[in-house]
Amino acid sequence: MLRRVRPLGGDPVDVLLADGVVAAWRPPGSTGPDSEGLPAGTAILDTDGLIMLPGLVDLHTHLREPGREDAETVESGTRAAALGGYTTVFAMANTNPVADTAGVVEQVWRLGLDAGHCDVRPVGAVTVGLAGERLAELGAMATSAAEVRVFSDDGHCVSDALLMRRALEYVRAFDGVIAQHAEEPRLTAGAQMNEGVVAARLGLPGWPAVAEEAIIARDALLAGHVGSRLHVCHVSTAGSVELIRWAKAKGWQVTAEVTPHHLLLTDDLVSSYDPVFKVNPPLRTAEDVAALRAGLADGTIDCVATDHAPHALEDKETEWAAARPGMLGLETALSVVMETMVIPGHLDWAGVADRMALAPARIGGLPQPAAQRWSSIAVGAPATVTLLDPSPWRVVEADTLASRSRNTPYAGRSLPGAIRATFLRGRPTVLDGKVV
Ligand code: DOR
Ligand code: ZN
Repeated sequence: MLRRVRPLGGDPVDVLLADGVVAAWRPPGSTGPDSEGLPAGTAILDTDGLIMLPGLVDLHTHLREPGREDAETVESGTRAAALGGYTTVFAMANTNPVADTAGVVEQVWRLGLDAGHCDVRPVGAVTVGLAGERLAELGAMATSAAEVRVFSDDGHCVSDALLMRRALEYVRAFDGVIAQHAEEPRLTAGAQMNEGVVAARLGLPGWPAVAEEAIIARDALLAGHVGSRLHVCHVSTAGSVELIRWAKAKGWQVTAEVTPHHLLLTDDLVSSYDPVFKVNPPLRTAEDVAALRAGLADGTIDCVATDHAPHALEDKETEWAAARPGMLGLETALSVVMETMVIPGHLDWAGVADRMALAPARIGGLPQPAAQRWSSIAVGAPATVTLLDPSPWRVVEADTLASRSRNTPYAGRSLPGAIRATFLRGRPTVLDGKVV
């Protein structure tokens, strides 16, 4: 029994979780929590002031296993996910070996089951070895125990237009989706940061917005032409938001995600030459940030995805040009969304539930009822929920994160909100802000 929880910020209710679903709810005080009628042995948690959201779903997580267990493992990454309020993460395929066969995706899926902190849905590579030359065994991955529905070469763009067309056509058979890392590689060769005034001042080679936008325009046309589902990873420019708005207006099946860091941070941070701010696509301008927030608010951008990209110290604490791109995200995502979207009034809590749980579940093809509509709180709804305390502000300390890596761009920054508990099908994975 959760006492006095506020579903999506509405009126407080007491909630009974049983057998993996919301079994009952009632206004507090109507009958006390220790009254008759509660099943024997019911644990009672005082959740006064907490907001209940559906368990968060991340479409874009790098768990690094197999291959770079020094940077992250399925165990450590999913522990970080649960602490961040996530109950499902989609694990990207750029591991070593690459997740381009049924064998590797099943291995990652089983590691997720063993860890038990949240559901792990492996993403399959689109092309063999992420090399962009031959399609991987998409069908074998889809029919494997891991039931892959999302395919991506993330880290690399599927830049060959014919290969992209074939991939889109192929996944239609099982309602799969191609998640594209939109980056025209010829336009970004040698790029170190966003192309613009800051890059010009620092003398660093630029990554132009058009390299992202050209691929989004091409792939939206392809998805419309073949009638397949395209998902655009980590949208980072104002022009990309416009293009996705156009593709949606055409009625094409195009969805998109934005990362927390692209909602908050800008390219002037690169002036510090601190590689913690190096990421791909790069941090952009304040105008881009404003367009991304507006796009997420009006639904042009469907969801928030972390692009949690852990890197070992030797790959990050080095000179700017040699450092790997990527930032941690799982343990701070909801706080950054609070700061950038909720506090300024762009999204209410129902909007957060949609952009961080329901929409990504739908895009990722999660089986019902995980993706079922979560209006306020429904009896029979899955008890896969996260409880957020919206009141505290806390300073992020890299050393206290559950991730094996330390590359958070928010170290020393104060962020709002704290996850108090996470439940996966009625079972707590986090209580009192600690993994159980
Ligand atoms: O910054 C990034 N890091 N962008 C990507 O696309 C890949 C990711 C990684 O794997 O580190
Ligand atoms: Zn990417």
